[in-house]
Amino acid sequence: MLLELTPDELLSTTRAVRRRFDLTRPVEREVLQECLELAQQAPTASFAQNWHFVVVTDAGLRAALGELWRGVADGYLRRRAAAAAADPVLTRLGEGVRHLAEHIHEVPVHVIPCVEGRTDGKPAAAQAARWASIIPAAWSFMLAARARGLGSVWTTFHLRHEREAAELLGIPYDRVMQVALIPVAYTRGTDFKPGPRRPLDTLVHWDRWA
Ligand SMILES: Cc1cc2nc3c(=O)[nH]c(=O)nc-3n(C[C@H](O)[C@H](O)[C@H](O)COP(=O)(O)O)c2cc1C
Repeated sequence: MLLELTPDELLSTTRAVRRRFDLTRPVEREVLQECLELAQQAPTASFAQNWHFVVVTDAGLRAALGELWRGVADGYLRRRAAAAAADPVLTRLGEGVRHLAEHIHEVPVHVIPCVEGRTDGKPAAAQAARWASIIPAAWSFMLAARARGLGSVWTTFHLRHEREAAELLGIPYDRVMQVALIPVAYTRGTDFKPGPRRPLDTLVHWDRWA
């Protein structure tokens, strides 16, 4: 069932969910399928559609991915502890990351968008075209999920252990890159607010950079 959200509300309230996952409610495969079908409508370089989504629901695999994720999250939290102590926004972010690290294996679905062709060491233009062939689709997936009452969060922690994750999931590492690990679950409540952002005029440049 779709939430009653205008397109603008959908775009402005699709937040990084870490603490409001309903860990007790299963996610139906058909709902994920709908989100993936919508994701497929996103643009891709040269009409290549060289993307894949690995949808992980098996509890053992989620536990193993969770271990990889947690190890990197712990390091991140340790490194950022001093900065977080002085900044309430970072404190809140850190609390969310810590909470998710403790529960990530309980989040019922982990979605790993992947793209064919490794770009390690390639020029920036090749990198940009390859990554951007899958990122719009993955974001469409997250928007479609939000429209259906599901929360998600784009994460990259596990990529530090991409090869181990590839072995766990049977992804051919030598020819397929993982792009993110997106935990997905229904949310507790569906009300989300626009996030804090820098003033627009600090990042928009009309005609010239200056
Ligand atoms: C490229 C990228 C990498 C990210 N990696 C992580 C991550 O590894 N772990 C995590 O908890 N959040 C991660 N995030 C989520 C961001 O922290 C989140 O999108 C940001 O704080 C904005 O959240 P908001 O839209 O709710 O304000 C990542 C987001 C992006 C776009």
